[in-house]
Amino acid sequence: MSTAPPIIELRHVSVAYGTVKVLDDVNLTVPEGAFLAIIGPNGAGKTTLVRTILGLVKPIEGEVLVFGKPPKELGPLRREIGYVPQMHTVDLKFPVRVRDVVMMGRYARLGLFRRPGKADHEAVERAMAKVDIQDLADRPLSDLSGGQRQRVFLARALATEPRLLILDEPTAGVDAQTSTSLYELLRSFQQEGMTVLMVSHDVGVVSQYVDGVACVNRRLVAHGRPEVVLTDDTLAEMYGCQAMFFHHGHVPHMVVRAGEEKK
Ligand SMILES: Nc1ncnc2c1ncn2[C@@H]1O[C@H](COP(=O)(O)OP(=O)(O)OP(=O)(O)O)[C@@H](O)[C@H]1O
Ligand SMILES: [Mg+2]
Repeated sequence: MSTAPPIIELRHVSVAYGTVKVLDDVNLTVPEGAFLAIIGPNGAGKTTLVRTILGLVKPIEGEVLVFGKPPKELGPLRREIGYVPQMHTVDLKFPVRVRDVVMMGRYARLGLFRRPGKADHEAVERAMAKVDIQDLADRPLSDLSGGQRQRVFLARALATEPRLLILDEPTAGVDAQTSTSLYELLRSFQQEGMTVLMVSHDVGVVSQYVDGVACVNRRLVAHGRPEVVLTDDTLAEMYGCQAMFFHHGHVPHMVVRAGEEKK
């Protein structure tokens, strides 16, 4: 048993937009060094959960602790969190080069009015090298493919050299091979000691890489090791219909049978 304090702790957290409760009594503990996937159907509250951890959304009930502190009181510890937001929230028409996007990740360290120094430029180059995009450095973001853009935003999150990396659907819209290489990259970060929390829809594939899965559907339906948590019952409860795994080679696939919605 590790005695290290958890890196994220949610105790009885409920979140509402106006009068609509979207997260209900969520308890979640993430130990340092974990690689956790948050899964659940569209509208389940996954992004809301991530935004709550980041302190961007305030719960109506319960307590959120990140590095042992409420998100609003993190101060300089905030730099220890790298965040890759869900892609549709990003304005891609903004005319900016790849290197400048990655530098944006340093502004948390820099403060608004200081110019980047040598250490910042070096950190940006290191972050780009980690995700293998140095050859894209001078290209405009708008010219890149979806998979390349995801790497740029990952590099931006890495530019602060975070202890905790949070990604919201980093593989949405990218092909299977690109997703696999991203998961492998994230696992290598975990092996270097980083804590990784990732929202994903690739239920079966993700479970090959992570050591924990949190199934969210307004409530935390289940949380634990993927082979324990990803049962037919849990998936059925989450997706509101009959869902099950079948094994094709070594990769489990999830099958959701339409027309069997359970109430
Ligand atoms: N800013 C907001 N104001 C009002 N309602 C919101 C807001 N953001 C999200 N919601 C609602 O809260 C619920 C949960 O949304 P959330 O974005 O957290 O889901 P999600 O699990 O990330 O979904 P997806 O898989 O589609 O990304 C949805 O019903 C959504 O419409
Ligand atoms: Mg979302």
